[in-house]
Amino acid sequence: MIPEDKVAEVKERAGIVEVISDYVALKKSGVNFLGLCPFHGEKTPSFTVNPAKGIFHCFGCSSGGNVITFIMKIEGVSFPEAVKLLAKRVGVIIEDRPLTLRDKKRIDEKEQQLKIVELAAKYYSHILIEDKAGEAGRSYILKRGVKNELVLPYRLGFATDSWDGLVSFLVKNSVSIEQAEKLGIVRRRSNGSGYYDLFRNRLIFTIANVHGKPIGFGGRALDDSLPKYINSPESPVYSKSDVLFGIDLAKQAMREKGYAIVVEGYFDHLALYQAGVKNVVATCGTALTNGHLQLLKRYADKLYFLFDGDSAGKKATFRGMELVLPEHLPAFVIELPEGEDPDSFMSNHSIEEFNDAVKRAKPVLDYFLHDLIANGETGTVAGKTSVVDQFLLMLKKIPDPVERDLYLKELSRLFSVDLRTLLSRMGGNSREGRSIEGSAKIKGAGAGESLLVLLGEYPELLKNAKDLNIELLLPSELVPALIDLVSMIESGKKEIDWGSVMEKIVDSPLKETLASLLLDDKKFKDVDPEKALNDYYRALERKAVKNRDAKELRQELATLDSDSSRYWEIMEILNTLRNRKSLLH
Ligand code: CTP
Ligand code: MN
Repeated sequence: MIPEDKVAEVKERAGIVEVISDYVALKKSGVNFLGLCPFHGEKTPSFTVNPAKGIFHCFGCSSGGNVITFIMKIEGVSFPEAVKLLAKRVGVIIEDRPLTLRDKKRIDEKEQQLKIVELAAKYYSHILIEDKAGEAGRSYILKRGVKNELVLPYRLGFATDSWDGLVSFLVKNSVSIEQAEKLGIVRRRSNGSGYYDLFRNRLIFTIANVHGKPIGFGGRALDDSLPKYINSPESPVYSKSDVLFGIDLAKQAMREKGYAIVVEGYFDHLALYQAGVKNVVATCGTALTNGHLQLLKRYADKLYFLFDGDSAGKKATFRGMELVLPEHLPAFVIELPEGEDPDSFMSNHSIEEFNDAVKRAKPVLDYFLHDLIANGETGTVAGKTSVVDQFLLMLKKIPDPVERDLYLKELSRLFSVDLRTLLSRMGGNSREGRSIEGSAKIKGAGAGESLLVLLGEYPELLKNAKDLNIELLLPSELVPALIDLVSMIESGKKEIDWGSVMEKIVDSPLKETLASLLLDDKKFKDVDPEKALNDYYRALERKAVKNRDAKELRQELATLDSDSSRYWEIMEILNTLRNRKSLLH
């Protein structure tokens, strides 16, 4: 725990240009400094440092932040470690601050909760391994072909059909039942008297964090009764969008092999792991998130999606694709025969056949393109046009111009459309918001990001912004950044910590647009702040109103030229609507 004012002092004294110059040769270019990015290989500089705002950003790999995040990234250290390194360098003395009561309470509760999950895991595991009441669980794992030696590392367990087995065990161990309730593993009876167990008569999978600490559970019914799986809910120690099942067991193998295999289910994970394929993680019923990707990036440079051979599996693959494309994280698709999942595949086939399937894996965009051609409507010109546009929409998300070009050539060949036509339809060869010029040109797009910068530059606008309720119209990915910014303004900070604001945005394209706006010093210099606020607000409003109905959008699309940014905006919205629908499968 380092006091806030010390962190601020360190930041202030450690000039970002000076610090980064130790690692990167920087050249002045206008108000910014430019150099070759230390986080990805490049030949022309796209790594930009702005001393006035105290931020860095790479337009090639979209990494960015403030001086502290830079040290964290390049030295591979945690936040407090980075602050201490910098403090030493600039001669700030940091004494460890005593915790406030609130800090203490939060840390205490979390520690208590972790202990409770650990205890519950022991309870379930004991039943499965040696209790008479665990017989049903033991015969179930035998039936599912799970090797006995996996029971301990996976912390498999069994919940009996008792309504209060876990409750009484926890009470006997003097555990706070209120804390156990916060974990969702016990629930309060509706008549208010006492508690009951969440899991009954189920095989228990213990979900652990990267360090192998239990944080939650999944429970499989032993027969066809529904729901097939019950999972413990989100809790202060278990955030589903940041956790992948099996990552603690897989991280070493992912580092060694350099890639991760992503599957959907608990048993899929087990089946591969016990066959010796250990670089595998499972999403377990939640859609892949950006948090998952950031976690995987720590250990792997490539992903292999291995989802079920059915339409739901295909949809999961395409959702994953949209997330990885902007991330400089090559992804491939391992295809399974129709109707199989990795678990069933491993019980019907040899490991050699599995390895062959991995060798045959296609880059995810190739897989997408083949699927569009095989299943899209390509018999008519209108159908073909729509297929081309759906593919171009994905290409726009790729940051690497060479990769984009190669796909464009492929598309041009497949559909016999002139390459230049495709290029101009995609909107030139620059990705939206990638370059300063690019983002300044786009009008409606980037209105949310612009609002943030405007508010930071003119904090006196805060009241107007609040009156307008801008958070209701802002893209939801930007709301955490807005909250951070507003709390800085309200605490009367002289300088906005843009590095911190940027970190709150996980969506790379939005982050890049924000960065490019921040690095463009002229853009917000001579504006009339109130008028600008209203303009951006109205742009967001127009977007919101126009986004309502897919049918109306399609009609509007038909009237538009693919040169206009609105055309691609609508394509993006329609795509999101399609995905939302498919989430409800
Ligand atoms: N899942 C869930 N809740 C459900 C169904 C599924 O949380 N009601 C999650 C589980 O993590 C499951 C994964 O989604 O492992 C994939 O679901 P599915 O393919 O239906 O199950 P399988 O993993 O094949 O499970 P099994 O082999 O036990 O039938
Ligand atoms: Mn299965």
